[in-house]
Amino acid sequence: MSAIDEVKQRTDIVEVVSQYTTLTKSGRTFRGLCPFHSEKHPSFFVYPEQQSWHCFGACNTGGDVFSFIMKKQGIDFGEALRLMAQKAGVTIPSKFEPDAKRDEKERLYQINEAAAQYFHNLLLNSPAGEITRNYVASRGLSPKTVTDFQLGFSLNSWEALKQYLVDRGYTEAELLAAGLAIESEAGGTHDRFRHRLMFPIYDIRGHITGFGARALDDSLPKYLNSPQTPIFDKSSSLYGINLATAAIRQQNMVVIVEGYMDVITAHQNGFNNVIASMGTSVTEKQVGAVKRLTRNVNVVLALDADAAGEEAMLRGVGYENTLDAEVKVIILPRGKDPDDVIKEDAKIWQNLLEEALPIVDYTFNMVTAELDLTTAKDKSLAVDKLLPIITEIKDTVRQAHYLQKLARLVNVTERNLEAALRRIKPSRGRRRAEEPKPEAIAQAVRPVFSSPVEEYCLALLLQHPELKALSQGPSPEYFENSENREIFIAWQQVNDLSSLKDELDMAIWEHLDYLITRSLPPNQIEQKYANCILRLREEFLRGLETKRAAALALEAELEGTAAELAKLEEQGIEVSVQLGEVFTQKSRKVRSKGAEK
Ligand code: UTP
Ligand code: MN
Repeated sequence: MSAIDEVKQRTDIVEVVSQYTTLTKSGRTFRGLCPFHSEKHPSFFVYPEQQSWHCFGACNTGGDVFSFIMKKQGIDFGEALRLMAQKAGVTIPSKFEPDAKRDEKERLYQINEAAAQYFHNLLLNSPAGEITRNYVASRGLSPKTVTDFQLGFSLNSWEALKQYLVDRGYTEAELLAAGLAIESEAGGTHDRFRHRLMFPIYDIRGHITGFGARALDDSLPKYLNSPQTPIFDKSSSLYGINLATAAIRQQNMVVIVEGYMDVITAHQNGFNNVIASMGTSVTEKQVGAVKRLTRNVNVVLALDADAAGEEAMLRGVGYENTLDAEVKVIILPRGKDPDDVIKEDAKIWQNLLEEALPIVDYTFNMVTAELDLTTAKDKSLAVDKLLPIITEIKDTVRQAHYLQKLARLVNVTERNLEAALRRIKPSRGRRRAEEPKPEAIAQAVRPVFSSPVEEYCLALLLQHPELKALSQGPSPEYFENSENREIFIAWQQVNDLSSLKDELDMAIWEHLDYLITRSLPPNQIEQKYANCILRLREEFLRGLETKRAAALALEAELEGTAAELAKLEEQGIEVSVQLGEVFTQKSRKVRSKGAEK
């Protein structure tokens, strides 16, 4: 999930607005005196379901939580985002990373690159590398694989790398910062990685952020990894991502395994959509990174037989909620990892993949395997174990599906289960490793609204600069989503894509990149664009209409003054007139299309 979405997910517009004006709830809507202009009769409305606001009074405008804060505090989007992010506990990259910091990171990438080349060369060519060359071969790795993954070898020496890098102008301080050297007890520094098979860890852009290093004898730890550095964070790294992205996007599927060797063997056998969480169970950050790779990506976790149960019970639904999609699992044969399985027979791996089970179904199987569901006692045990998991499922359709499944399994009515479901608090008795505060869990279920029409329009505009010259463009207010609105406004002010980025806050770049690269239909762009603007306008007006209707209902219910009612009615008429225009234009289009044929 993007940082912006994360902020939205954890921010409740009702809470935010309540800090500036007193809101009273009625039905699904809240209303209060407009915080932007002085008024005696409340004409400011907040819609929690859409996480949006609208003032039907003097402002006659609305938007999302960011535009609210921007307007209220008189700040720009980036500042509003950071303010909200801070409250929500989300980290946003700083607007313009200070040059010094950027240079420092750049330098660390360079030093890692230099080290990786050094290790790689030692593995390929040095006499001391002979044993490791044999080891690599004995594990079945081809020369191409060794090159693709830039595997290397570190000498059994305390200072070999250090000397090599210092000779090339890097300082000991930089070696320390990159995690390549450690401070010695006697003062001074020495190499961290000694006598190991080296696995450079790349980020998605192909920078080397750190290393994994496997012992060549039985020294411990078996794998030594880079420490946390300004460019390396193990919990958000995904080994193999640099080589897997294309395949993941192409197949719209990613398989997450545990180990370095699992990824390497998978790729060598043509399973290029495999990446590793590097030993730990998958983290929310990693799931978030995977989600950003491509929309609606299918995620499959390869779990080893011993850990699978716990992983599925404890974290499975959390992954799904982060991903906004189902997660599947394949359970490895006991005592084997994907490396073993694939090497034994790639077909077995292929079969496992084909039989991957949704993680909740797997949990059902696991729980019920130990029970005798003909007995009352075990039926109730099954409900006790499974219902809390079902409670966590955010997607209501899938939640209903599993509720039905459980009801059938234990042979009680769904209605009974639903009642039980309502009684369960989402966090009941179930600890989740990466979600510290209970309120964070409750907050995390707030949906994030994407705006497909807004995004489609913007993507068309950005990818076809010639459209900019057309007279009938959309108006900024049609974009309810603040990021989209920001991009649209910036785009109106610049002449080419490269200067667009300079106009925008860094936090929006990811969204912008998505819009610029998403695939669009190849032809009749102008016509598609015209249709899209119509749809955008229609959506905007309809949204306004729904909001106004809710406001009107509330006003009537609270016996608002005749004047207020009349004003809302009047605004309604205005909206209807505009909607009417949209429909006329649409039908004109249809007719002219018919005439062309
Ligand atoms: P494994 O112990 O299963 O190693 O750890 P492996 O990948 O099968 O390695 P081989 O086949 O023995 O060479 C799985 C992953 O856990 C992380 C590594 O990322 C490893 O690939 N790990 C393991 C560590 O980070 N440190 C360790 O000491 C052990
Ligand atoms: Mn292994």
